[in-house]
Amino acid sequence: MEDLFDYSGRTVFVAGGTSGINFAIAESFARAGASVAVLSRRPDKVKTAVDRLGEYGITALGFAADVRDFDAVDSALTTTQAELGELDVVISGAAGNFPAPADSMSPRAFAAVVDIDLKGTYNVLRAAHPHLRKPGAAVINISAPQATVPMSFQAHACAAKAGVDMVTKVCALEWGPAGIRVNAIVPGPIADTEGMSRLAPTPELAGAVADSVPLGRYGTTDDISACALWLASPHASYINGAIIPVDGGWSLGGAAVLTRGAP
Ligand code: NAP
Ligand code: COA
Repeated sequence: MEDLFDYSGRTVFVAGGTSGINFAIAESFARAGASVAVLSRRPDKVKTAVDRLGEYGITALGFAADVRDFDAVDSALTTTQAELGELDVVISGAAGNFPAPADSMSPRAFAAVVDIDLKGTYNVLRAAHPHLRKPGAAVINISAPQATVPMSFQAHACAAKAGVDMVTKVCALEWGPAGIRVNAIVPGPIADTEGMSRLAPTPELAGAVADSVPLGRYGTTDDISACALWLASPHASYINGAIIPVDGGWSLGGAAVLTRGAP
């Protein structure tokens, strides 16, 4: 897929870009020639990600920071522009999740997910805005089916990702006139990820999830990064404020199967 896109000379920042879906996205932009910066909390994950991205012969930067800390995010984005130039693509995908019942999860548990997923996404976009190429930048938030499909034991994630979708649309409205496009990708159940290992931890539940996808399978991280490469490119230059499912049709109804995933 990377062969179809040339991001050489471009700068890409991926919040939460050190593992899983977001790392795969960072890797695909690196393969397509972009300079790539990633941010996440754990210094060991940041170092490993930067080392692996550097193997593609591009310039890679890493920041160990928490998206809940606006000043740290702001500093990372300022440094990225200083070292790599104006930002062409910003991906906001840092997230936390676990199944927990609404009647007994602690208020701090609810707050942790909302603070990371929703407020963290706002922090990334707010800090990125001064450094975005205007016109021409593309912002992509990573949402989830929980934004539109109510799932048991997911009150925190459903609320947070619904908020992410709305932040996406409002920023698309406000920033479109400057030539900045803001969209979101909604991954379906993606194989070999931390997110699905938490939500469908048993083979039985994982099988039920696969059966509930109209296309009959889990997605791959390549399915998501292919969409990101296209969505950030000039081929998608009239797409703004879109929330794009890449989920095999799962959010048409099948995603409700996760209501069976008792914690
Ligand atoms: P993952 O591997 O756990 O990725 C999460 C990333 O965010 C990691 O790099 C993690 O690194 C970072 N992170 C977590 N909390 C952070 C914080 N407070 N500040 C900064 N970075 C933080 O999970 P994944 O399953 O690939 O999910 C990636 C994205 O896809 C998420 O937005 C998720 O909601 C979305 N999604 C996933 C699926 C799926 O099937 N997996 C489906 C729908 C949507 P550190 O631990 O180093 O901070
Ligand atoms: N069930 C119920 N509550 C849980 C929980 C679980 N599985 N995991 C954490 N919590 C609660 C904690 O008990 C705490 O509440 P308390 O202080 O009232 O006891 C609260 O959530 C915050 O936990 P803490 O460990 O301090 O948060 P953190 O900020 O260090 O970590 C998490 C954030 C909890 C989201 C953690 O799971 C994480 O770092 N996730 C990142 C990876 C991930 O989730 N990937 C999938 C992406 S979709």
